[in-house]
Amino acid sequence: MSFELQNVRRVFSLQANTWDMKKNLIMSKHGETRRLYQLLKDIIKKNDYVLDMGCGTGKVTKHILNEYPHAHVFSADISLNMLKNLNNKIANGNCLLMDGERNSFCDNVFDVVAAQQFLHHTASPSLVLNEIYRITKTNGHFLLLTVGDEHHKNVFPYEGIGMLQDPFGRVSKEEIIHLLEKSHFIVDQVIADFFQFEFLSFDYYVDFIYSIGSLHKIYQYNEPPATVRSYLRKLLIDAGQIRADGTVFLDGHYISIVARKNPILRKVI
Ligand SMILES: C[S@@+](CC[C@H](N)C(=O)[O-])C[C@H]1O[C@@H](n2cnc3c(N)ncnc32)[C@H](O)[C@@H]1O
Repeated sequence: MSFELQNVRRVFSLQANTWDMKKNLIMSKHGETRRLYQLLKDIIKKNDYVLDMGCGTGKVTKHILNEYPHAHVFSADISLNMLKNLNNKIANGNCLLMDGERNSFCDNVFDVVAAQQFLHHTASPSLVLNEIYRITKTNGHFLLLTVGDEHHKNVFPYEGIGMLQDPFGRVSKEEIIHLLEKSHFIVDQVIADFFQFEFLSFDYYVDFIYSIGSLHKIYQYNEPPATVRSYLRKLLIDAGQIRADGTVFLDGHYISIVARKNPILRKVI
């Protein structure tokens, strides 16, 4: 599956103004979806330089600024609209418009890089990981939260084809560890979280997956066709995800990882 950076930018720029409202479309949530915040607790130290890569409207940035006021926090994204929305929430934010595949930071500058729900939206996760490795200090940390292979598995079974080919950018534990190790990271912790979102109706479900860019992703970041609703409804009915009362549920799976820049390989990179 191949897609253009400009299409990814366009999709997220269109979603930016409503990005923070998408949670209102969920009727209830069961399970852990904020693992990254917990993992940050053991990692961020006073005066650390921290980057929120693919920051969107700044959910992670805001959390870090609130919880770790002595950290120096930077936020980078490809979408100007996302950054504008971040700026509306966070005064004096250090926002940078840049592509994670070829970012303009110097080598070895960040103690911590965090990337939540970002990697699977990039055309080359390997390039992005190489870049994150480059800008992370030796022994610095990379914290990643991404969509696991069991996400939405009843409706869209995972074919084991990897993050780049999968319609949702899902990845198995083994695949993501392999990708990180190929970029020379040492993987310290891998946590799988399974959760369930419930929606009041099929329309809420579709609006939600549209609002997070998932629906566009299936169509390589082009506008989904008008027929997508009937296509999805059939899939959900066949998978038994629409209950008799009309409510819909989505089985979710996130993988969170703590990785570290390998001190031994520092000189050869
Ligand atoms: C699903 S959103 C996640 C936003 C935020 N991290 C959050 O958790 O709410 C993905 C974000 O990655 C950004 N993005 C996609 N490709 C990118 C790239 N190559 N470089 C930088 N940002 C990118 C999008 O613009 C979007 O804001």
